[in-house]
Amino acid sequence: LTEESGHRLMIAVDGPAGAGKSTVARIVADRLGYLHIDTGAMYRALALKALRSGLADGDDQALTAMAEQTAVRLQLTDGGKVAVSLDGEDVTDAIRGPDVTKVVSRVSSPSGLRRRMVQLQREVAAAKGVVMDGRDIGSVVLPHADLKFFISASLRERALRRHRELERAGFAHSLEEIEAEIARRDEEDRKKEGSLVQVPDAVYIDTTGLTIEEVVSLILSFCRRGFA
Ligand code: DC
Repeated sequence: LTEESGHRLMIAVDGPAGAGKSTVARIVADRLGYLHIDTGAMYRALALKALRSGLADGDDQALTAMAEQTAVRLQLTDGGKVAVSLDGEDVTDAIRGPDVTKVVSRVSSPSGLRRRMVQLQREVAAAKGVVMDGRDIGSVVLPHADLKFFISASLRERALRRHRELERAGFAHSLEEIEAEIARRDEEDRKKEGSLVQVPDAVYIDTTGLTIEEVVSLILSFCRRGFA
């Protein structure tokens, strides 16, 4: 699909928390032989650093200054998974904890900090043949992407998915708690410029009641048309 045509696409996937963006983006990238860039993971790495430095409640200036002195990298491992490094330390697992989830929407809000991350994300995407997922990819980071998707699901369904995920990882949270947390994060994420807005050229996919494989197939069918 990719090598034969020699035409490599830049694909943007946006949507709210728990919509399954990263899972779907990872599989799509894998099938196409593309790079997967999880921008949420980059903001999570900054949130972890802010927590450790006592800056999670810091003002915009302090958070932006911190980001300017931070090296966040996504590296493909031998197993084909993407590892996240923070100033050289592997933080792939640490950034998924509830403490990071709690502060990440606030830490990722200063516009100076976002400008720096957007610049970094554009540099990584420059090679094409990428699937990038986040909140502002089609609107801000890659407005010229070849294909844009906006993936969502009902709040209840997103909470249920996160609940199952956390249960498997051994965390006990009630469904109500998770639903409230996701709603709070969506609200906070919507305040940022270009974040969680569905641009007119994005394909909207409501994944409520769909399996991961069904969403992947749908996206791949649009990619095939993108090559036509
Ligand atoms: O996709 P995620 O849940 O891992 O993202 C974590 C947080 O990072 C999310 O609450 C908002 C922020 N984020 C952002 O502001 N812009 C992006 N492009 C991606 C994530």
